Amino acid sequence: MLHMPKYEKIWLAIGVGALAVFLIVTGFMGVSMGLNPPNGMETTMKSENVETTEPFNSPGLEKIGPNEYRATILSYTFGYNPNTITVPKGATVHFQITSKDVVHGFIIPGTTTNLMLLPGHVVEYTQRFNEPGEFLFVCHEYCGIAHQEMYGRVIVKDTV
Ligand code: CUA
Repeated sequence: MLHMPKYEKIWLAIGVGALAVFLIVTGFMGVSMGLNPPNGMETTMKSENVETTEPFNSPGLEKIGPNEYRATILSYTFGYNPNTITVPKGATVHFQITSKDVVHGFIIPGTTTNLMLLPGHVVEYTQRFNEPGEFLFVCHEYCGIAHQEMYGRVIVKDTV
């Protein structure tokens, strides 16, 4: 048996206890709040097939209703296709995005859009743009040497 002063045992117990509490809390929150890799994991394909698979063989913006759009975006090292989307103000945009190579991110600061793009996994997210202006979207998962060059924009026009 290891000889330790009593205070050391106490501190060891406190350390182990704090670690246990931390793991239990994060584990519980992860399960209860569904903090898994982001939503839309249902659709997957091999990353090398992304460019030849619908709808990512023709990415772009499609009008699907009154001021409602579907934005199909293909991310790659280092950019997005398309990297500019123009919609009228008040538009609801259903993003569907994937990556054809490595893990990328897709965040639109000032909105609730914050996605992780795994190769071949299609992520879907719906965002409404009420205010006119230019919204930058950027990659916020480090993906290589030109990671900071990886961005695009949503242009929201002041017309309906
Ligand atoms: Cu793509 Cu960082």
